[in-house]
Amino acid sequence: MEQFQELLSTNPLLLLAYLFGSVTFILGLKMLSHPESARKGNLIAAAGMIVSIFATIFLYQYKGGEGQPVGLHNYGWIFGALIIGTIVGTLAAKKVQMTAMPEMVSLFNGMGGACAMLISLIEYRNDSMPPTGKFLIIVLGMIIGTVSFAGSVIAWGKLNGRVKDKTIPGGQMINFIIFAGIIVLSVMVIGGFTVSPFMFYGIAILAALYGILFVMPIGGADMPVVISLLNSFTGCAAAFGGFLYNNPVMLTGGILVGSAGTILTILMCKAMNRSLKNVLIGSFGGAKATAGGATKEQGNYKEISLSDSAVLMAYAQKVLIIPGYGLAVAQAQHTCHELEKVLEEKGVEVSYGIHPVAGRMPGHMNVLLAEADVPYEKLLEMEDANDQMGTTSVVLILGANDVVNPAAKDDPSSPIYGMPILEVEKADHVIVNKRSMKPGYAGIENDLFFKPKTSMLFGDAKKVLQSLIAELKQV
Ligand code: TAP
Repeated sequence: MEQFQELLSTNPLLLLAYLFGSVTFILGLKMLSHPESARKGNLIAAAGMIVSIFATIFLYQYKGGEGQPVGLHNYGWIFGALIIGTIVGTLAAKKVQMTAMPEMVSLFNGMGGACAMLISLIEYRNDSMPPTGKFLIIVLGMIIGTVSFAGSVIAWGKLNGRVKDKTIPGGQMINFIIFAGIIVLSVMVIGGFTVSPFMFYGIAILAALYGILFVMPIGGADMPVVISLLNSFTGCAAAFGGFLYNNPVMLTGGILVGSAGTILTILMCKAMNRSLKNVLIGSFGGAKATAGGATKEQGNYKEISLSDSAVLMAYAQKVLIIPGYGLAVAQAQHTCHELEKVLEEKGVEVSYGIHPVAGRMPGHMNVLLAEADVPYEKLLEMEDANDQMGTTSVVLILGANDVVNPAAKDDPSSPIYGMPILEVEKADHVIVNKRSMKPGYAGIENDLFFKPKTSMLFGDAKKVLQSLIAELKQV
């Protein structure tokens, strides 16, 4: 509080800029909760960030050698880094495929962790900082930032296949020993029992090792949850930076990222009906499981032709499309929107059933369909879609599997038991489009494919949808 009052009397313009930045972050985050306002929210928060950065560069002052206020002066370094970062970030964001989005988020998150780590490493040697609580903040910021950086880089490597899932024998015990080592060294540095910088750098090395070993054994497919958790770590580390510099905007931003990441982690686990512990030490997604743990006698599945599918949908009253990860893989969102329009021209009511964890990242299907300009009001949340299922003539499942697997409701021994699903069986007809009978993310078989109401329409989602449109135009 004292620092804010000092800032208010010595540098009110800077405080105003920080206040503006903080308000835009909160507003932006609120707007991100709805797909229609998300883009604007992102821009508003980015504007606040730009104002805060430039206000810091030009208005921030610290006490120089003779106690005189001095402004920042390393403009060459500052603007050089800003320009390089802006170019690299913009190109990466423009080039990235939707399916590679979690990878990029992980890498960007890792950069945030690295920044927090570097701040701590640099400020540890800065004697001009007030000593009260300085080491506590620096050490905590460094530990959390380093774990987040190292863990995020491993997560990025796993998602793009460069790093393979690896369970190290006795890994949990090794992690525990490393963690204990971090605590002991931290107590020594924070408590002033040592002034050796090697102890401090030792904490950084152990934290990096911990980050690597913590993420290494987690199944590659569980990475979105881990990334969200690491994201909350980065937020906390940034908040410590805010404390260190008495910077309100850094503090607000860090707290928002930290709490949003934590909430998202909890929501993702809840939507998959798994505990965070199960995600972190379980092997779900990595192992090849079958429903019930053993191969079940499934019976036969039946196939449907493109022309029969087209006829069924053309004469339907209501069609519900259920998109899944396969739709994103096939990049078939635009073709899907086209199919929707062709059906509507024939008087069919079309909407989409969105499962909260369909795809591989939160809101994956919403973003995918928004990219193809599918009107937002056509997207039904899982509960609403389930309410409408009984009056739906045809459900068309496009590259979704686990999110429609009845084992989640019927089979207590299934690893996905308890996960809420889209109850497609209540509709009159179910058409499932995928390329084969292979399982999805959870690695388990899907009884739905063998049910009497279900027909399989095999093929790549984009090609199938293109052919369906052509067939529909002739009906
Ligand atoms: P999945 O269960 O992974 O199934 C996707 C299906 O798409 C696969 O069975 C695959 O079958 C098919 N497919 C792949 N490429 C295709 C293509 N080009 N054309 C047509 N089909 C294609 O996906 P889902 O139903 O969306 O469920 C998501 C899963 O991910 C859940 O288990 C969820 O818990 C998990 N998860 C989600 C998140 C978030 S936040 N969304 C985070 C972590 C984990 P074929 O190979 O036979 O084609």
